[in-house]
Amino acid sequence: MRRPTLLDLLFTMAAACATTPTVPAGADPAINAPFRDAALDVKVWTDRFEGESREVYRAREAIVAAIGLEPGMVVADVGTGTGLFVKYFSERVGPTGRVVAVDIAETFLALVRERAAAAGLTNVETRLGTTDSAQIPAGSVDVAFVCDTYHHFETPTTMLASLQSALRSGGRLIIVDYHRIPGKTSEFLMGHVRANRETVISEIEAAGFVRLQGPPAPFLDENYLVVFERP
Ligand SMILES: C[S@@+](CC[C@H](N)C(=O)[O-])C[C@H]1O[C@@H](n2cnc3c(N)ncnc32)[C@H](O)[C@@H]1O
Repeated sequence: MRRPTLLDLLFTMAAACATTPTVPAGADPAINAPFRDAALDVKVWTDRFEGESREVYRAREAIVAAIGLEPGMVVADVGTGTGLFVKYFSERVGPTGRVVAVDIAETFLALVRERAAAAGLTNVETRLGTTDSAQIPAGSVDVAFVCDTYHHFETPTTMLASLQSALRSGGRLIIVDYHRIPGKTSEFLMGHVRANRETVISEIEAAGFVRLQGPPAPFLDENYLVVFERP
């Protein structure tokens, strides 16, 4: 039998790559360590998440207007944090709809409940997720909104499976996340965000979602917005 040549080895490696499904590496758990801290200071994080220096904060109303929420819909805000989007979602889906605010940090969820009660929002509920699952009943959600959180998923494969289960057939998954462009993106974000837009899209497609033509998002520059459908 002849010895394998370099070409044979390269061919074998290429064939293996072509048949191996994409199993995305997750975020380093250290990225979520501040949120797991029971002593998490909600004032500090509210100032950080809801300040003019943050693009998604400045563009919050444009983002909400662009994603096609309608009265009566159920929208899950996965990785709700301080609940920046909750009030706007609540207004859009109205009294016949529901906002399900999900986070792995109970302290954030308590804040979201407190803010919803203070604002008289009766269509908001909270759900404690895990790093593996959004803990949302199957087929109960029209839109899953994931802002600045996909890159915090420690186990993207299981999170995507849980979001796929949570969405009704034809439901949409909306991802807003930071670009990761060498030479353009800040050094901090290059280290903080594990994957660029193209990688994120390919991971989500590999999980069985179908990419849709998203709305134009001229209000975003540091971030992108992509839309998928649960077939
Ligand atoms: C950077 S914050 C974004 C908060 C909010 N979406 C915003 O844009 O203001 C990321 C949030 O995701 C939460 N998180 C991380 N992994 C999560 C997971 N697997 N499921 C739900 N929430 C998660 C964190 O606790 C944190 O509140």
